[in-house]
Amino acid sequence: MKIGILGSGQLARMITIAAQPLNIATLSISSDPQDRGNGVTPHFIGSFHNEADREAFCTQVDLLTYETENIPLEIVEACRHNKLIKPSSDILRIAQDRLFEKEEFQNLAIPTTEFYPVSSLEEFAQALIKTGYPAILKTRRFGYDGKGQFIVRQPSEMAQAFESLKNSELILEAFVAFDKEVSLIAVRNSTETRFYRLVENIHQSGILRYSKITSDKADLQNQAERYAEHILKKYDYQGVLTIEFFVKENQLIANEMAPRVHNSGHWTFEGSYTSQFENHIRAILDLPLGSCEASHPYVAMFNFIGTLPEKAQLLKLENVSFHDYAKIPKTDRKLGHITLVENDKKQFEMKCLFLEKFIGFNKIY
Ligand SMILES: Nc1ncnc2c1ncn2[C@@H]1O[C@H](COP(=O)(O)OP(=O)(O)O)[C@@H](O)[C@H]1O
Ligand SMILES: [Mg+2]
Repeated sequence: MKIGILGSGQLARMITIAAQPLNIATLSISSDPQDRGNGVTPHFIGSFHNEADREAFCTQVDLLTYETENIPLEIVEACRHNKLIKPSSDILRIAQDRLFEKEEFQNLAIPTTEFYPVSSLEEFAQALIKTGYPAILKTRRFGYDGKGQFIVRQPSEMAQAFESLKNSELILEAFVAFDKEVSLIAVRNSTETRFYRLVENIHQSGILRYSKITSDKADLQNQAERYAEHILKKYDYQGVLTIEFFVKENQLIANEMAPRVHNSGHWTFEGSYTSQFENHIRAILDLPLGSCEASHPYVAMFNFIGTLPEKAQLLKLENVSFHDYAKIPKTDRKLGHITLVENDKKQFEMKCLFLEKFIGFNKIY
């Protein structure tokens, strides 16, 4: 069994690692023979923009999945003619466009942020009257890690915001003064659905810095699971689905969804009985799903962004695991992460304080 993965970053890397015990191979596609990829996933040399390459790639694999929603839909549709792709391109079409995504949340009665499509300066001005300040102007497609976004804090910033993003289709969102951010990772095969515990996510400048599993009240977890079920059922979904929410006054407001494994689920590698990566593989192959229970009461994951620390410095801490994505360092690039698992609350809190400082987390956004 060989799974073709569109994309070859850290998510493909971790899918590949999780596939190995099951004796399942993976293959990604890249046009650059020198591509270091992620250090783990084997490469097919070719471009998925080229039909012959794409077909040759598809004949070498049994089915396809993707590690990013930022793949041109035509490519995924074209692959679909050759090979089964999971999750399906129907959900990808929605999840890769912030406007469609928010409209779909509304269709399914999932609360979301106030939003307006923006295609001209006039529309932008009209939308700003409705949202007030601050508001966030975002590209509808191809954004990630806060890229393609501009926070408009006052009227004088409007022209600059529009100028910097005007070459793309846009959406304006009201700014949500949330109490916290959480995400739900759900997984579904053709018949069964399971959910991981909600995780609290701490971002800075639009990039996830760290995540901790929550012991949130059952009502928030149940509410999140109900919302996820609406989507999973509608799309007869197979694979991992992530939904990011803002929490305000104990209510969930959906921010965005990703039809794939997600950074806020990296903790599941060591902190859960079955990782999101293994469960994604099981789900797309329609194998029975594994337990999503956390293996420890306290689990956190810290991202390394821009620079990767000395491994020895952190590995001397008890109960941490280190992932190095084998990437070339670059500002704002995710290069690796560590997971911390603890049974003892005091130990956990002490180490989290140290690790927040260590990753240079600065509480002022
Ligand atoms: N409408 C909003 N109100 C408040 N904060 C927001 C809003 N939209 C985005 N953010 C902040 O920016 C982060 C990144 O934005 P998001 O829409 O999730 O895009 P990305 O695809 O880059 O993850 C969010 O996790 C949140 O911290
Ligand atoms: Mg996000």
